[in-house]
Amino acid sequence: MRAMQDAIELDPSLSASKLAEIPIIDLEPLLHGTQEDQALVIREIGQACREIGFFYVINHGVPAALVGQVFDQAARFFALPDSVKAEIAIEKSACHRGWFKVGGENLDPAKQTQSGDLKEGVKIGRDLSAEHPLVVAGTPLHGPNQWPDLPGWRAVMQEYYTAMEALGARLLQAFASALGLEQNYFDAWLEAPMTTLGPLHYPPQRGHITEAQLGAGAHTDYGCLTMLAQDDAGGLQVRAKTGVWIDAPPVPGSFVVNIGDMMERWTNGVFTSTLHRVINVSGRERYSVPFFFDPDFDTPVECLETCLRVGEAPKYAPTTAGQHLLDMINASFAYHKQK
Ligand code: OGA
Ligand code: NI
Repeated sequence: MRAMQDAIELDPSLSASKLAEIPIIDLEPLLHGTQEDQALVIREIGQACREIGFFYVINHGVPAALVGQVFDQAARFFALPDSVKAEIAIEKSACHRGWFKVGGENLDPAKQTQSGDLKEGVKIGRDLSAEHPLVVAGTPLHGPNQWPDLPGWRAVMQEYYTAMEALGARLLQAFASALGLEQNYFDAWLEAPMTTLGPLHYPPQRGHITEAQLGAGAHTDYGCLTMLAQDDAGGLQVRAKTGVWIDAPPVPGSFVVNIGDMMERWTNGVFTSTLHRVINVSGRERYSVPFFFDPDFDTPVECLETCLRVGEAPKYAPTTAGQHLLDMINASFAYHKQK
């Protein structure tokens, strides 16, 4: 029996409403259908991006067995003692790759406490050797991964990385179409995209839970789009435009897709980057695997013409994908700010 002081007591401000739902979009017709079929899916995607900035995708073509392997390998790594995980500590990396411990990331830096999120994770990016021109040029966030010493781990993660990169590129094409642009509009900025695979482990939350420390504090994602696989523990919440928080419960075989700040900037807010948070009240471990899809470092991010109505002004100053990501990482990873 759980001791009294361990009983979960959720602050009332953290409960979710059942009043709205996140749409579930079947990607089969987008990936394999006629142009007409594709247009229907693109319309659904566009609507979800405008209205809530979140949607589930099913029939996305990434094999369930591969997703399962990724979760198995992630759990295997997180089960290691901290001293072993520290062999690939993110602080050792010049390009933000490797393991960060519980509290190492704080996705809601505005909150008053010093404790970061109640989660640990691994950052895996495009594995670039020291000879790669972007690395030679000293491009921030580019370089080699740090791999744990676990046979099979790297191969599984790399296979998944490749599959998710392809799916992300296809979704970005759908975004372009939904925004009234040529389908391949963004493709020019995907030569060495800054894609990040980031398995996460959330220990169970106990006791009185307040905003002071959540699994993941309320935040918007930084980049273009995120594709998240979550296990069956639940705990992801999304803030609807009305201001109420709603659940994004586990849907078997799905990814949760959401818009990040970079896409909001690009679209002048036509696509919304929506606040979300994680509270692991399952009483057990929670694992999730986000894949963050961002374009090349030098990609200009400025208001798209099709997103500016007559008489409207751009809401955001132009930036680049790389600079934007650096700014955001500095805000949420204390170690990186000191670099
Ligand atoms: C994130 C995030 C949600 C989850 O890492 O940005 O929102 O369920 N993760 O882990
Ligand atoms: Ni997020």
